Amino acid sequence: MTRINIGLLGLGTVGSGIVNILQRKRPQLAALDLHITRAAVRNLYPKRQALYPDIELTTSAVSITQDPDIDVVIEVMGGVKDTYPLLVNALKHGKHVVSANKDLLSEYGPELSKLAQQNHVGLYYEAAVTGAIPILHVLAQSYAGDKITRVAGIVNGTSNYILTQMVREGRGYQEALAAAQELGFAEADPTNDVEGFDAAYKLLILSRFAFGMTPKLADVKRQGITTLQSGDFAAARHFGYTLKPLAVGMLRAEQLDLRVGPYLVSPNHAFSSVIYENNAVVVDSLNTKEIMLSGPGAGSLPTANSIISDLVTIGTAIHNGIEPAPFTSLVAPTAICSPDRSVAARLIALKTSPEHFAELRGQLGITYTKPYVEDGVPYNC
Ligand code: HSE
Repeated sequence: MTRINIGLLGLGTVGSGIVNILQRKRPQLAALDLHITRAAVRNLYPKRQALYPDIELTTSAVSITQDPDIDVVIEVMGGVKDTYPLLVNALKHGKHVVSANKDLLSEYGPELSKLAQQNHVGLYYEAAVTGAIPILHVLAQSYAGDKITRVAGIVNGTSNYILTQMVREGRGYQEALAAAQELGFAEADPTNDVEGFDAAYKLLILSRFAFGMTPKLADVKRQGITTLQSGDFAAARHFGYTLKPLAVGMLRAEQLDLRVGPYLVSPNHAFSSVIYENNAVVVDSLNTKEIMLSGPGAGSLPTANSIISDLVTIGTAIHNGIEPAPFTSLVAPTAICSPDRSVAARLIALKTSPEHFAELRGQLGITYTKPYVEDGVPYNC
């Protein structure tokens, strides 16, 4: 049996989760003979090495990406500038690569996939989008006879956690953010979480798998959750909605409309029960209508579990003596919906007198209103 040697780039939260899962020696993994032999870490000290007696720790990531004894490189160190050349190096040295790096793959995924194919190796990154939820595999494999028309998801756990805390528990924004940081799922700089960048990166990757298109960050209409004010929460409550941070990609006349931002969600929709840091993705297609997958979108073992599943795909190909298939083979010309074709329903809450409202109603062409009472004073919304 061919032994498969693995080199880790990063041994933090997710890296240690991968070691943990492999140490459990699940029977399904036994046949693949997987061994983590080396790991690159930022700080190397004897106590840390003592924790991992079977793994050679090094501070030189490049010594792993070009080590002739390594078959698979798993990248869980994050970052783009320093990490991108390492992945290029690994692929050029004939290593299969598994990565959890959404920032990097949202931008360089297509280029790195091409490089992987040229070097006859696999590049898989299930863990980059919604942690434990195997959405990329499902999109790549389960819709061959179908056409996806919309993919929508709660793909950022930090902003879902913050909005859940604010809507359900009446906590303030700063307090909820601090709790998310404490629990460890916010990015080092939470700007990417709360301003919708993290969700936009994931949406770009989802778009490649769902529609075969390769949009850019600038194609996403992005709004953070930081723009929400107490009146937005009050209006949502008044109309019986909850607020959810969604990333939505949908086809409008074969053009892709991409949005990230806070949405009003009806309590009847399954998204409303996806609370705290959990993630979920809904896929609409011609054959199956709406299918939803939900679960933990971050964390050590949930994310490591997706990496192990990619490792199994690669390990199985190695043992069968074949080249791993490209992660997705769907390719379509990229057509982005122009802003004038992009339509969205809006809830506009106005605080005004009944007389002024009657005037505004005519001016704005408002067709649906619902009375709203605040402090005993009736208004119209
Ligand atoms: N900061 C991310 C989130 C981690 O909150 O979803 C997982 O990508």
